[in-house]
Amino acid sequence: MKKGKIDVVLGLQWGDEGKGKIVDFLTPDYDIVARWNGGPNAGHTLIFGDNKLVLHTVPSGVLGKQLNLIGAGVVIDPTSLKREVDDILKFQMNLKDLILIAEEASIILPVSKLLDKEFDSLLVLGTTGRGIGPTYANHALRIGLLVRDIYKQDFKNRVLKITNYFNAYFDLEEEAIDSDTIEEFFRDCDWLIKNFEIVSSSSFVNSALSQGKIILAEGAQGALLDTRFGTYPYVTSSPCITGGVLTGLGVGPHAIDRVYGVFKAYCTRVGNGPMPGEMNGKKAKHICEVGQEFGATTGRARRPGWLDLVALKYAIEINGVTHPVMTKADVLDGLDEIQTISEYQFSQNGSGVIHTNVFRPDADILSEVRPIMNKFPSWQNLKSVKDKKDLPIQFQQYRSFIEEKIGVPLKFVSNGPDRTEIIPL
Ligand code: IMP
Repeated sequence: MKKGKIDVVLGLQWGDEGKGKIVDFLTPDYDIVARWNGGPNAGHTLIFGDNKLVLHTVPSGVLGKQLNLIGAGVVIDPTSLKREVDDILKFQMNLKDLILIAEEASIILPVSKLLDKEFDSLLVLGTTGRGIGPTYANHALRIGLLVRDIYKQDFKNRVLKITNYFNAYFDLEEEAIDSDTIEEFFRDCDWLIKNFEIVSSSSFVNSALSQGKIILAEGAQGALLDTRFGTYPYVTSSPCITGGVLTGLGVGPHAIDRVYGVFKAYCTRVGNGPMPGEMNGKKAKHICEVGQEFGATTGRARRPGWLDLVALKYAIEINGVTHPVMTKADVLDGLDEIQTISEYQFSQNGSGVIHTNVFRPDADILSEVRPIMNKFPSWQNLKSVKDKKDLPIQFQQYRSFIEEKIGVPLKFVSNGPDRTEIIPL
């Protein structure tokens, strides 16, 4: 039998690139959609007709006929998952048969959400406050709890022991994790194992591959928020790059075929941390309003910036992207001029001013660099285009410049939020 394969979809910027829509668009060609990192810090928005669904933990294939795996690398908040499932049930029945959960995935404890706020007041990262960092940290400390632990007799005791420990250590407000919160958490853990099939991520994925199944691996956040190769310390706590698919699902590298890298025609960042080319003024306002640049998870306003090709080339390289996808190109419709960054300039002690197109994700260096900008005329009404032959010449110029800088041809451009608004290139 023909062996199956995995194609990956991931973000190439600081998250919010529109990955949910791309996964939703690609899904009909796949048997399984699998999430491999992050947790309810993600917000993947699907728009179909007059309907909108925001997913946080469940893979974006849930509206199709595919199986959806919440993989080993994901951190799950049972209470937030329950709310999300209630929302999905308005559009899709029988979720029990469509969603599988990895027994190796981590559980976000109520106390981890408090710790998140505690640490954020120290580090000022602007986290989503969903308990993501402390859950991955507890896992590395070997005191975390996994989905498979919910079945064990000492589960409740272990949760209480960890809760009491952090409570005492950090002198956290006791009432914030009162007995009602803990009881709700236990009820939702119970709901989780009763309502979904719990599987071993690695056995499920490897056996699906040996049966010839094709899998779409859906990433959360973006490469520049990767815990190691992102703009540390202004990053999330999980791997967000292709390497994370292997550890997040439990598969070997040869299973991976295409890597779809999704980036916006401009940049945004939510939370703190440097972003060369950050915009202010009228154009920034236009982009935020037309692009609806408000966090799908926290509602925070996103910070807009011009497309950074130094960072994009780096993200293409570290992920081995074969299929770049540009999203939200229609948001730039009607601007008199648009810009990209193709080089950074910075001063180095003793060496004078240096120009470079090599991205170094050091947050201190990035906050010092001066971006060298390239200017382009913008286009009108890209939104109404249905076929690549009708793409405006100004867009074609912008696209060619990007392709020359990143070294890989673009495969799709998305020109609107609806799942039908996408043009193969
Ligand atoms: P955390 O993932 O909640 O720990 O937040 C760490 C940083 O990553 C913060 O700056 C967040 O705003 C950012 N972040 C986390 N998830 C996302 C996402 O899905 N989109 C955009 N930014 C995110």
